[in-house]
Amino acid sequence: MRTLARDLFQKCRDYRDSADAKAQGFYPYFRQIDETHGNYVMCDGERKIMIGSNNYLGLAQDERVIEAACEATRAYGAGCTGSRLLNGTIRLHSQLEEALADFLQREAVLLFSTGFFANQGALASLTEDGDVILCDRENHASIIDGCQFAPAKLVPYRHNSASSLGNRLKRQAPEAGKLVVMDGVFSMSGDIADLPPQLEVAKSYGARVYVDEAHSLGVLGPKGRGVVHHFGLNDDVDIVMGTFSKSLGSMGGFIAGDRQMIEFLKHRARCLIFTASLAPAVAGGVLKALEIMQQEPERMEQLWRNTHKMHEGFKRIGFKIGTTQTPIVPILIGSEAKAFMFTQRLFEEGVFATPAIYPAVRYGEAIVRTSYMATHTDDDLDHVLEIFEKLARELGTFDDPAYVEPGRRRNVFDFRLDASENGSEGAAEGQNGYHQATK
Ligand SMILES: Cc1ncc(COP(=O)(O)O)c(C=O)c1O
Repeated sequence: MRTLARDLFQKCRDYRDSADAKAQGFYPYFRQIDETHGNYVMCDGERKIMIGSNNYLGLAQDERVIEAACEATRAYGAGCTGSRLLNGTIRLHSQLEEALADFLQREAVLLFSTGFFANQGALASLTEDGDVILCDRENHASIIDGCQFAPAKLVPYRHNSASSLGNRLKRQAPEAGKLVVMDGVFSMSGDIADLPPQLEVAKSYGARVYVDEAHSLGVLGPKGRGVVHHFGLNDDVDIVMGTFSKSLGSMGGFIAGDRQMIEFLKHRARCLIFTASLAPAVAGGVLKALEIMQQEPERMEQLWRNTHKMHEGFKRIGFKIGTTQTPIVPILIGSEAKAFMFTQRLFEEGVFATPAIYPAVRYGEAIVRTSYMATHTDDDLDHVLEIFEKLARELGTFDDPAYVEPGRRRNVFDFRLDASENGSEGAAEGQNGYHQATK
């Protein structure tokens, strides 16, 4: 008798999390926005101050960017309907690659349809069997998932720790190709990569170094050139990755580096070759946004004034904001249910923020992730702080956010780190766990 196949959809029928949150009135995701004005949005006729975006310089709503996107659409159509390799390269793609290479002071740049694909394409194509990718354990999910497509072994190291990186490097075969990958600014904690000591360690083992500038472009470094320039280390970092989905106000991503490496990626990265290229509107809009970013440094200056005001404001009220050094300001809450409840109360009071729970953050260390823009006014920010102060009186400031449910891992990498710390690194670096990182 044939055994009946397991029904793949059973897990979907058993899935209750979103329905439970909706039933309790705390569901915080996929909120419908009817109008976007940058610093505020309209939802169901109500004005909400937006502190849940990555639109750091406010360029997503800039009239000049919108006009450039429209112009590109009129010239080239709504889409390229094919991959760059075969039938989808328009002049705007090449112009954007040249403009970025010039801005970042790199030999060449290659565009991808998303930042996620840029990470996946580079990590999968540049490494081979027997190579090792050393990954800060708080790196973004696109890096972790990108590593799944890579034939190399993934070795996580402690967040921002040059000594942990050194320990991991020491244990690898000397002849293995090595790539050290880190976020320039970490998307949940808002802290900046401690690049100089990690770079020094990496170079002493002959490793190549790769920095994801998703949250640092337009935020750090002269004219917003990113973390690598912020530390004056552009000549030492081998690969820079960036996105257009944050400071540049659109979508898409890129890899920057030496000409021959880019030429190789252009003909090897499957998520470039087998997907449609950036829409003309995106390429045209990003080109204009890049120009404005360089011509209007006052945007970045205002972003930093707003950032400092919020860091100080939250601390004054008594909220814990972790180790952030940037416009990403996590409010440490602890339990997921409380983070959902807090976010819902914020929304009711006219503030649009988002909770981040496991696996975006460690288990039991849920946050309300807030982030600031150059276009927030003092009135906006004072109002946000007033609402937080009101909710602190109502719900508390969660000053003991460590809340770990027994038996649950604190982080997707933790079981491997713990094992490797005890000396059994081989077992610790199996493929398990990669799949769960969805940050
Ligand atoms: C650090 C980091 N890298 C990469 C990405 C992926 O970028 P994109 O949204 O362009 O796919 C993100 C997006 O959130 C990110 O935060």
